[in-house]
Order: sequence, then C-alpha cells, then structure tokens
Amino acid sequence: MTFAPVLDSPADTTPVGGPQLPQERRLVTEIPGPLSREVLARKAAAVPNGVGVTLPIAVVAAGGGVVVDVDGNSLIDLGSGIAVTGVGNAAPEVVAAVTDQVSRFTHTCFTITAYDGYIRVAEALNRLTPGDHDKRTALFNSGAEAVENAVKIARAYTRKQAVVVFDHAYHGRTNLTMAMTAKSMPYKSGFGPFASEVYRVPLSYPFRDGGLSGADAAAAAISQIEKQVGAANLAAVVIEPIQGEGGFIEPALGFLPAIAAWAKDNGVVFVADEIQTGFSRTGHLFASEHEGLVPDLITTAKGIAGGLPLSAVTGRAEIMDAAHAGGLGGTYGGNPVACAAALASIDLFENGGLTERAREIDVVLRGALNALRAADDRIGDVRGRGAMMAIELVEPATGAPDAALTAKIAAFAHAHGVVLLTCGTYGNVIRFLPPLTISDDLLREGVRVVGEALAATPR
Ligand SMILES: Cc1ncc(COP(=O)(O)O)c(C=O)c1O
Repeated sequence: MTFAPVLDSPADTTPVGGPQLPQERRLVTEIPGPLSREVLARKAAAVPNGVGVTLPIAVVAAGGGVVVDVDGNSLIDLGSGIAVTGVGNAAPEVVAAVTDQVSRFTHTCFTITAYDGYIRVAEALNRLTPGDHDKRTALFNSGAEAVENAVKIARAYTRKQAVVVFDHAYHGRTNLTMAMTAKSMPYKSGFGPFASEVYRVPLSYPFRDGGLSGADAAAAAISQIEKQVGAANLAAVVIEPIQGEGGFIEPALGFLPAIAAWAKDNGVVFVADEIQTGFSRTGHLFASEHEGLVPDLITTAKGIAGGLPLSAVTGRAEIMDAAHAGGLGGTYGGNPVACAAALASIDLFENGGLTERAREIDVVLRGALNALRAADDRIGDVRGRGAMMAIELVEPATGAPDAALTAKIAAFAHAHGVVLLTCGTYGNVIRFLPPLTISDDLLREGVRVVGEALAATPR
C-alpha cells in the first residue's frame, strides 16, 4: 500500500482507515512532514487562529490505534480525538450503518418529521444509563449543547435558576457553558460577559487538597452552596464524575454520593456530565456506576457515535418532560446518520467487549505509568480509570505544577510519532485516552516514548 499523497485526488491514494491499517508507529519524515506543513500553511490562511491545532499533521486515515498522515507517517493515537473514537475511527459496523443510512435519507429534522433511529437511540440510552426509573432522552449535536439543555430542563422542572459547578470543571465553550467551565485561558479569556446564576464551589482533589476525605470535601462544598447560593434558588448541580479537561481529577470516594444525596434531599437536580467519561471509557458503560450513582440527568456525547456529532440528555421522565413542546431541539439534533452511527457504536459498547477492553487497558496503562513514576519523581500522581488515565507532573521538591516539563514531554511525543494530549488547570497533566481498539503493544510503546521524553528532559 502506498501512502504517497496526491492532495488533489485523495481518493486515489488515501489508505482506507479502520482496523486493517498497519498497527505500527512508523515515521518516514520529520513531524510535521513537508506535505502536512503545506496543508497547515493553507490552514493558517483559511482558518482563524482561535481554532488551534495541537499536533500539526494532516490526517488521511485512522483506525485501531493509529493515525496516518499525508506524508505516510503512522502515529500511535493516545487521544481518540479527545475521548471520541472509543470504537475506533472507522469501525466496520459504524461504517456500514452510516453508509446504509446515508443512502436512505440524510435529514428530515426530527422535530418536523420523526424517524425510528432517533427513538432507538433514546430507548437505548434510557435502558443503559444508571437507574431503572422511567426515563426520556433528547438528542443534540455537541457536548456543550447537551449541557445547555440539561440546565434548561432542570430550570423548567424546578422553576429555579441557579446552577452550581465545581473548581476545574469543563463543560464547553458556548456562552452558558463558558460560564460553567473553570479555566480562563484559553476557554474564556476575552469572551465575556458570561451567563449569570452560575456558582463555583470546591471539588475533592485528593492530590492537592491534603487528602481530604470524600465526605469532608463534600461537606465543604455543600456548606459553600448553602451559604452562597441556597437550595431554594438552586436548579441543578452539574459535575463530571471524573474531570476531563480540568486534569482527570477523580474525587475521593464518597464525594459524589454525598453531593448527589444532598441534591436529592434539597430538591436540586443532580446532573452527571459524562460527556468525556461515558461509553465504556472508564471500565463501566458510565463512570457514575463506579460509586452506584443514579444521576437525575446525564449528559453524553463524544464516544456515543464513533466520531459523528451527536449528544444527549437522558433523565427522569418527570424532569425531562417539564419543558414545554417546542422548547427543546434544533435543526440537526439527532441527525439520522449520527443516530445510525450511535446505534452501531452502542451495540459495540454493550456487546462487543469494549467495556472489558477498557479494564484491560487500565491494567496495562496503570502498570506502565506506575513504573515510570517509580523511576522519576517528577511524576507526582498517576490517576484515572480504564482508558482515561493521567500523570500529573510536578517539581519534586515542592509539588508545584510543572507545566513547562509537561509541554516538553508532549512536544517530544509528537515529534516521535505519538498523539499525546495535555490538560489540567495548571497545564501539568498528561492524559492517556486511547481508542478502546488499540493493541497492548502500541499502548506500551506510547508510554515508552513518554519515558524516553522524561529521560531526554533533564531537570
Ligand atoms: C465533560 C465535558 N463536558 C462538555 C464538553 C463539551 O463538549 P463539546 O466539545 O462536544 O461541546 C466536554 C468536551 O471536552 C467535556 O469533556
């Protein structure tokens, strides 16, 4: 198979994506190669600066655990397009479902004339999300849109306005979700004014809060909610069971159940934002399951449809039904092609062994990352679950976040053929989010490159 690119006729030369791509790290040029540089130069002239590119290659195919660029380089994918391609980038089942649907009809607008695929996705989410109560699901396009709608629905149900979110939270970049997101740069800076009635309280962050118990951290957060907001004004508490962009922070055990119990006792809708953690990523179908949480509403997106844009709000029927007819929806929400992809993907998560695969990835990743940590005290913490794992890099003497080291490790990995993402309020977390279809060998090789990066970066 040749990867020689002819940009004007990609159909002739582009390798087909999916699991059949050779599963190897293979560098045939420097990264980025000359052809990627050409494409990215056009990007600079055609696309605004605000739309950044972390690793400036131009992709022509992806699948299994690799991403192939226009120069013929094959990179190990430890990012899954930010936790999206759990089923892989071109899973044959998804390709077949999408191809079939696209040949039937691409769009009608569900709120004008309905179709079965949307309803089947809703039925699947109602069945699979935590809790056996009566549920309803509404579909949207992006994660931020799902979060916005969860807040709308909670407000309609409670007839209250305030929303509580947490330190380090990330919920999106629309106006309301910018207000809900914690980090200023790059997500909010210069883009205000932000939506009102959003209040932030402390999160349990075991590595940085002195090991406060989950119960104590929850008590502190609840006290702040009661003093500064008041349950009488509060529509919803929105929380990521494991924080994503904020640094893969896992609250201490007991924190999430205590917040959920307080919300229940006080007539506040408890919303789990599972947009990054959902769909087998953490070794359960939903991360809420780790502590037996039953959220009132749950937002999902990313992994749901194998890369096609789809998101959902699923929750208690009486809450979901509180919004008046016509109050929810949008032109593309629950697009039939995205729904077909979701049905094929959800079947793979439920019946294709992918949840079990996330647990195997947990063992491989945790083992390899703990070994790195044992050899290098600049790794302050190894945390996460399943195929959502991270290391936090620090100055060993003080524990201060080391963002500069983190940036160097990521740059080294990129140059050596590994798609590696950083995150965290302090920019000092490297996150590992491989597709669930990656092989153990590629995973270990990816972590080995991170080890080489540390070795090549003297303190
Ligand atoms: C937890 C969480 N919520 C919301 C979002 C926003 O999703 P989207 O980028 O699809 O709008 C993200 C995206 O990273 C996320 O991780």
